[in-house]
Amino acid sequence: MKRSAIGFAFAALMVGTAALAQEPAAPARESIVIKFSHVTAKNTPKGEGAEYFKKLAEERTGGRVRVEVYPNSILYKDGEELEMLQLGAVQMLAPSLAKFGPLGVKEFEVFDLPFLFDGYGDLHKVTEGPVGLALLKKLEPKGITGLAFWDNGFKVMSANRPLRLPADFKGLKMRIQSSKVLDQEMRDLGALPQVTALSEAYQALQTGVVDGTENPPSNLYTQRMHEVQKFVSVSNHGYLGYAVIVNRKFWSALPAVVRMTLEGAMRDATVYVNQVAKKENDDALEAVRKAGRAQVYTLSAEERLEWKKALLPVHREQAARIGRETIEDIYRATGFDPRRL
Ligand code: LMR
Repeated sequence: MKRSAIGFAFAALMVGTAALAQEPAAPARESIVIKFSHVTAKNTPKGEGAEYFKKLAEERTGGRVRVEVYPNSILYKDGEELEMLQLGAVQMLAPSLAKFGPLGVKEFEVFDLPFLFDGYGDLHKVTEGPVGLALLKKLEPKGITGLAFWDNGFKVMSANRPLRLPADFKGLKMRIQSSKVLDQEMRDLGALPQVTALSEAYQALQTGVVDGTENPPSNLYTQRMHEVQKFVSVSNHGYLGYAVIVNRKFWSALPAVVRMTLEGAMRDATVYVNQVAKKENDDALEAVRKAGRAQVYTLSAEERLEWKKALLPVHREQAARIGRETIEDIYRATGFDPRRL
């Protein structure tokens, strides 16, 4: 095995040498390849953001950088991709902010606190300000550089029974991402949380391994989860977004001019994603409605208030894990008052 590998390398070297001998012209610069792996479909805010970044990066570097986008968990799934980034098997990811706990950066789970953000406006006060920047810096000791926050949107809940009041969750097995804050959220609703990779969520719902789930409409629709759920509640009870991250060693070794060009492309891709995310989710919810498989119900103000009462204690219950300071920084940035319902 070893010998044939050496033989192959030698043969390749000879072919290469022969090619060089025939082409005295200056050797072409090798392109820099960025493998960008992610778990959602192409037609989601993240999927489109990745494609847009690829386009800008390749155009602006005149092809010196090639971005290979691998959507839909085709390369790595949840639970694999962060390690693969650290090992350098891929260079760029955009995991959901709910998935950084296993890496040891629990502060990111602050974004999972129920009812913390009243809309994208509130959220951008954090992700586009000093609090967001400080959070990204926490990734450096893990060998990861954080480049940007990308939006997805506000979550709906789904199951095979109507979910109008907290009591409706009692005993349901609910699929969640790996965040302990989401685990607490489901427990406070009386449900049984179960961490499942996105790539396995559809099947888990279809076979009854879990009864329900939460996600922004764009993921619900593109993963076809609405086909195996009878009821969807538009609750907007929490946010799902991403940190775009790169392997730090790879990023800092890039020629400065290339890095700066890519930073510019990332800035513009971020503006793009954060502009289209809301529409993507509105369209996806409309598509779920039109598909007619799941009944879509929007919570009344009174029902939403009951959800708030049931879920605001999560802020206190998870403060020790996330860090009180991080939570309070966000309260200050958005004007959120935990005593006000
Ligand atoms: C999920 O697992 O539900 C989401 O994190 C998927 C994603 O990346 O939007």
